Amino acid sequence: MSNNIDTAIQSIEWRDDHIRILDQTYLPGREVYSDIRDVGRIWEAIKKLRIRGGPAIGIAAAYGFYLGIKELAENSFQSFFIEVERVAEYLESARPTAVNLHWALHRLKTTIEAHKDKEISEIKKIVLKTARTIHAEDKRTCKKIGETGMDLINDDARILTHCNTGSLATGQYGTALSIIYHAHKANKNVQVWVSETRPLLQGSRLTAWELTNANIPMKIITDSTAGSLMHRGKVDMVLVGAEHVAANGDVANKIGTYPLAVLANENKIPFYVVVPLSTIDMDLENGDEIPIEERDPEEITRFNDSEIAPRKAGAYNPSIDITPHGYITGFITEKGIVKPSFEEHFKTFFE
Ligand code: MRU
Repeated sequence: MSNNIDTAIQSIEWRDDHIRILDQTYLPGREVYSDIRDVGRIWEAIKKLRIRGGPAIGIAAAYGFYLGIKELAENSFQSFFIEVERVAEYLESARPTAVNLHWALHRLKTTIEAHKDKEISEIKKIVLKTARTIHAEDKRTCKKIGETGMDLINDDARILTHCNTGSLATGQYGTALSIIYHAHKANKNVQVWVSETRPLLQGSRLTAWELTNANIPMKIITDSTAGSLMHRGKVDMVLVGAEHVAANGDVANKIGTYPLAVLANENKIPFYVVVPLSTIDMDLENGDEIPIEERDPEEITRFNDSEIAPRKAGAYNPSIDITPHGYITGFITEKGIVKPSFEEHFKTFFE
């Protein structure tokens, strides 16, 4: 694969009458594509992280929603909409934290209501068109984020990133990784520290795969190595994504993000959260109300088919943590860079 970022990976595509995903549970060893033709299988793909990352989950849910409503009876709008809400509720139950899932479904339901006077067959076409628009918008947004954030990157910058926020996690390019792609394309000679991101290793499996494909210099570290690197002055900036951002700037993201923020502050290293506006939830006052996804403890005690802990050992497996806004240097969005106080500035983006 060339280091031409415009040919970056597509984690999800709409193909005539079905969804095609790159199943991320097989990466980096194998590139396995799955064709998905029903809402139940997209629910399973989101739950099992075959498709993952906030924006990509939103796109998958949008297409899955269309698959869920396309065969619905067309007797009356009222009975149709009852079924529509049932399909949305089902998809929302796949994963609790990624706000893009809820954002996309809310947008599709609102679109249906706005066209309630049309034939239901027409409304179904509009739903697919809207799902495709959500996908296309996300690609443009991620590119814009990369171009916007690149200005913050100095030559030879050593950037630490956590989890996967690249093309695999979005429509294309990514959020935090889009900035790295664009800085590399601009010959800024960036080097990347990739925290492996236990327990499902989105860093060492997925981010490292994207960066090596793009010939971007990087090294994988264990999650617990970040503090020592920062303390020894080997990190110039931390770039992470987000699953959910509250109006005050509190951030929900992959478990391990909060300690990175605290360490970066302690070592006076800029800590940026890179997000599309679709991930900022102005209806949520602060991070206390963000649901913490708890996943199967076996994701910790087993790896692939091997037991890496005593069978009787218990494990606690929260998928995300909350970083209070006080630890965040700024947000990088498609509409610009936001410095404290975050709520006031976010409001200007939604006016
Ligand atoms: O559990 P995952 O892999 O879906 O978690 C993903 C993250 O936490 C990402 O940082 C976030 O969704 C932003 S992706 C652009």
